[in-house]
Amino acid sequence: MSKVRVRILFAVITIVLLGVAQNLPAQFRGPRDPGVRGGAPGAGSMLAGLTADEQEMFRDGRVDFNEAEEVGDGLGPRFNFNGCGGCHSQPDVGGTSPAQNPLFTVVGALGFGTRNQVPSFITPNGPIREARFQFNSDGSRDGGVHALFVIAGHTAAPGCNIQQEDFERQVRNDNIAFRIPTPTFGTGLMEQVTDSAILANLSSSSTTKANLGISGRVNRNGNDGTITRFGWKAQNKSLLIFSSEAYNVARSPPSSTSPTSSASWPRRLP
Ligand code: HEC
Repeated sequence: MSKVRVRILFAVITIVLLGVAQNLPAQFRGPRDPGVRGGAPGAGSMLAGLTADEQEMFRDGRVDFNEAEEVGDGLGPRFNFNGCGGCHSQPDVGGTSPAQNPLFTVVGALGFGTRNQVPSFITPNGPIREARFQFNSDGSRDGGVHALFVIAGHTAAPGCNIQQEDFERQVRNDNIAFRIPTPTFGTGLMEQVTDSAILANLSSSSTTKANLGISGRVNRNGNDGTITRFGWKAQNKSLLIFSSEAYNVARSPPSSTSPTSSASWPRRLP
């Protein structure tokens, strides 16, 4: 066979194989990112069938969730953003980070630009990130959320001299862990699932699950042993606790431990 023929034959075989691959059932093909879904959000509104009182609670809650807090309301001295709805907004109120990162408005339109720098891991089109430090500077475990910004330098905070933490140093020391916002849709229903139902689901169809390599374990509240379920690591027991922590992180008190001393850097997770 001439070289040209071989090439043509090869091209034809390749095309045929590609055609076959297109027709393979989904489970035999590699996973493919379908991209951003179009159409209506299909989330973020209230459940059908609520009573008038429940509907009012939903509407009030939505207004509170979208409210922008100001220094006079208690925002600061350290904070991540000025309201729940800023971080939880895609594809609707309660969701996750929007395409344009709203944290840039902190140093821009919101007027906190004088004494704050946007950390390098917060980018205009990148995700909102909460930053946790893995270790304190004395080598003990930290793990807590460190608020990104301070109110110092804002016209509404005269006399406040608190300093923004040095996040670039934490990045350089590989001591930082990020979490992006999880959507809150349907979490009210998740709260209704009883601990015993979660345990029953965990132990059901165990052979099938074992064959498929699916396994898991519950996370528990250290205080009363009940199952925790909210957040990336199922670290929180209830929406009330999660929301109060979210408010606390939004307006957290000054940290007593300074993470800037250099004694025991760098540290990594074991
Ligand atoms: C700076 C951005 C930011 C703001 C502001 C914010 N959140 Fe979040 N939210 C997050 C992140 C990040 C997570 C995931 C945290 C984790 O699991 O450690 C989260 C998770 C949650 C969850 C858990 C949802 C689930 O599926 O388990 C709830 C509930 C929640 N936030 C409520 C709130 C409320 C209420 C407010 C306002 C008081 C708020 N958030 C403000 C970033 C934010």
